[in-house]
Amino acid sequence: MLFYKTAEQILLIKESCQLVSKTHAMLKGFIKPGTSTLKLDKLAYDFINDHKAKPAFLNYNGYPNTLCISVNDTVVHGIPSRDELRDGDIVSIDCGVVKNNFYGDSCYTFYVESVDEKVKDFILSVKSALFKGIELACEGNRIGDISFAIQKYVEAKGYSVVREMVGHGIGKNLHEDPDIANYGKARTGLKLKRGMVIAIEPMINIGSRQCRLEDDGWTLKTKDGSLSAHFEHTVAVGEKKAEILSNFELIE
Ligand code: MF3
Ligand code: CO
Repeated sequence: MLFYKTAEQILLIKESCQLVSKTHAMLKGFIKPGTSTLKLDKLAYDFINDHKAKPAFLNYNGYPNTLCISVNDTVVHGIPSRDELRDGDIVSIDCGVVKNNFYGDSCYTFYVESVDEKVKDFILSVKSALFKGIELACEGNRIGDISFAIQKYVEAKGYSVVREMVGHGIGKNLHEDPDIANYGKARTGLKLKRGMVIAIEPMINIGSRQCRLEDDGWTLKTKDGSLSAHFEHTVAVGEKKAEILSNFELIE
């Protein structure tokens, strides 16, 4: 289902999104060698509850944790564990919350201490790809315009777009219509209208786009073992431009 949101509802979604970004900002100080991903998960669980909200992913289709923490060649849905972060790791932290019955969803890719310039460039490019998509999230455009802009930008840099997972509408549900693929054709798909709130979330591999699902049924990894990065903003489609509801400035 696709639901159009009122200005009041968008404010509530924004409140949830801002809490997600505050959670990321809180976690940033713990992204260092020796921190287990389970410790990050516990910190986020407590932080979200302390802010009168609930983790959105916990128990969603049976997902066991608050965060999806995807390290290095994990593309998405990495399950927190006792494994510790190491120098040079790249770490995507996907977080969702629900507060006042409205969801917020955002993902940020961090790195642990020293990583190659090549890897930093890759991470920055995936973030830029997200903003290339967001630039087109306004009336007069179609979903395919967002998809195409992301794909064009990352492929020009020699990276590849993951096909298995897509962005989505969001509101009273974590996942609503429409799907927002990170690959596609310009001038195709649903027309964007004010009142639509969507999560745009490029998942990009530095190597081949091929992925494989681990036996746990969640963890998606690159087939070739290459790095993968993921950024996600929840945005409200605007008349002339999108309003970004989550907030990377709080993190940076
Ligand atoms: N952030 C993911 C998304 O945008 C949600 C994680 S799936 C869950 O779709 F099951 F872990 F919740
Ligand atoms: Co999402």
